[in-house]
Amino acid sequence: MNRRDFARLLAIGGAAPFLAPGVAWPQPSDLPPTPASPDERFWSSVRDQFVMPRELTMLNAANLCPSSAPVLELLYKTTRDMDRDPSQENRAKLGDGRENTRRLLAEFLRVTPEEIVITRNTSESNNLVSTGVDLKPGDEVLLSSDNHPSNHVAWQEKAKRFGFTVKEVPTPNPHPGFDYYVDAFAKAMTPRTRLVGLTHLTSTVGDLFPAKEICRLARERGALSLVDGAQTFGLLDVDLGDMQPDFYSGSAHKWPCGPKENGVLYINKSAQSKIWASIFSAYPGRVGVSRTFEGFGQRDEPAMIAFGEALALQTKIGRAAIEKRSRELTTALAEGLKTIDGVKIWTSPEPSRRAAVLSFQPAALDPRKLATALYQKDRIGCATRGGQDRPGLRMSPHFYNTHADIDRAVAAIKRYAAAGV
Ligand SMILES: Cc1ncc(COP(=O)(O)O)c(C=O)c1O
Repeated sequence: MNRRDFARLLAIGGAAPFLAPGVAWPQPSDLPPTPASPDERFWSSVRDQFVMPRELTMLNAANLCPSSAPVLELLYKTTRDMDRDPSQENRAKLGDGRENTRRLLAEFLRVTPEEIVITRNTSESNNLVSTGVDLKPGDEVLLSSDNHPSNHVAWQEKAKRFGFTVKEVPTPNPHPGFDYYVDAFAKAMTPRTRLVGLTHLTSTVGDLFPAKEICRLARERGALSLVDGAQTFGLLDVDLGDMQPDFYSGSAHKWPCGPKENGVLYINKSAQSKIWASIFSAYPGRVGVSRTFEGFGQRDEPAMIAFGEALALQTKIGRAAIEKRSRELTTALAEGLKTIDGVKIWTSPEPSRRAAVLSFQPAALDPRKLATALYQKDRIGCATRGGQDRPGLRMSPHFYNTHADIDRAVAAIKRYAAAGV
């Protein structure tokens, strides 16, 4: 879409436009092809695809990412088209768009469209699994102990209802290594273990788990596997064909930089007969498991279509390039933080055991006050971790960040560490 098309798109007919002037944003210039060795200039042009003002440094991808201008434009254009003519005839094409997103999701995760359910988010995907797998008293579910509530609390609550037992593999700090976890899961599994659940990359301190090896272990012992991919979908170059989980979940609004309230549940072909659908309604998907699992009633199809556009942007840039970039920025952040007296980094010092989620205790500074100062005075957004368990700040850089963002964040924390907040 060129600038004129976009202007036309925003030009609402009639006397009372419902979009205030100023809602529009400058059309980004076309993204150049990704060079063999992408430099700061290239990543700066990636940054230009996003509508965040340049002075805002967002280091909070683990929580919520912005959508790029092309995604917002498609979302807006499709919504506008639908609301201008909401007839079934006009909306028929939206179903094709939704199936296109399913195809893009399958390519992105390197599986088949028949194994893809487009959900609302990771929470819903995880819960479709914990409600849908038929478990009874005597059965065991084995979880890593550091999971989001949509995985952890959900299993504990459903255990109360269905009578199965939840067991945990502890997750010590610092990350004890991949072999430790494969061994710990192997030892904790029993003949009663029916499902193994873990978070691929934890949202707390960014520990990466050997998902492929743990899924293989589960398979060998006749158990199902659920990998919560909220923190790896759109960040790592995930290949589910290689990982072979039974279930993998993710959200569009995190690392894929897609619209809100869209997500994915991958259900391996071999596991489809072992899970019940929880929701039955009209308008399911057209292929494979989506025909039984995706009947959620009326959906926000423009958002589902825009989800596909977000995946297409990442695919265009290159999934491996995005993973490498985010990891490189995280390493630069870790190196910078190490130069600040009193900072304790909770995330593994070993780059292969982490990805792009980094948590640290900012010396003696109060994390909340520091986060507020960083946002209000320095225009740097990040997350805080309260409580007693590895408290502090969490920063999660992504492909729209630059090294200048990392330098700014390190310099600001250094300044506050020396002078107080
Ligand atoms: C590991 C993990 N799982 C699940 C979720 C839930 O994601 P959503 O709110 O998109 O459902 C999150 C959110 O931060 C997460 O980090």
